[in-house]
Amino acid sequence: MREKRSMKDTLSIKTGYVLPPDTNHHGTLFGGKLMAYIDDIASISATKLARKPVVTASTDSVDFLKPIRVGDAVTLEAMVTYTGTTSMEVFVKVLSENLMTGEKEVAAISFLTFVALDESGHPTAIPEVLPETEDEKWLNETAVNRASHRKARKKYSKELVEFFSSPGK
Ligand SMILES: CC(C)(COP(=O)(O)OP(=O)(O)OC[C@H]1O[C@@H](n2cnc3c(N)ncnc32)[C@H](O)[C@@H]1OP(=O)(O)O)[C@@H](O)C(=O)NCCC(=O)NCCS
Repeated sequence: MREKRSMKDTLSIKTGYVLPPDTNHHGTLFGGKLMAYIDDIASISATKLARKPVVTASTDSVDFLKPIRVGDAVTLEAMVTYTGTTSMEVFVKVLSENLMTGEKEVAAISFLTFVALDESGHPTAIPEVLPETEDEKWLNETAVNRASHRKARKKYSKELVEFFSSPGK
């Protein structure tokens, strides 16, 4: 029988200061920097589930909902929310906190897909993720719909690659 791992056992959390080198001329965190933080923490959660090397297959989108300002604390929380055979979806929530007032906001959210690889670098089977709380079950159930959007997007990406690979492009 396929091994199951608790969704909560894949939880990864990281908090840090937003410092001037991480910010743009508006005094807010660079989008690209945040995307790197998101990919980094999501890959830790994916590896906790797979206990094998993983690669990022795709990032659905990063919705920058609120600016994260210099001097704020930024916290990233990641969890595996759905597992296929060799791939898994990871949800990342980004929270900003104004350390002077204690005001907290969800600043960004993202869903990413990771694939576990064997020693030869080929996709390999992973344990199934087990949701337990109501929130976890909701994230797990709604993942099926997100996966179908992803499939359509991948098909479109492949068509674009073919188009741009044709002679003269
Ligand atoms: C990700 C990768 C290993 C998939 O390889 P592949 O030959 O396309 O593998 P398959 O078609 O057999 O798909 C394997 C799984 O990945 C999923 N998958 C592949 N591409 C995907 C994508 N773009 N988005 C979401 N899922 C994807 C498939 O649905 C399948 O899932 P399942 O086993 O759970 O059903 C390969 O495309 C790759 O190496 N990409 C580069 C990864 C990389 O360099 N990342 C950045 C640095 S970490």
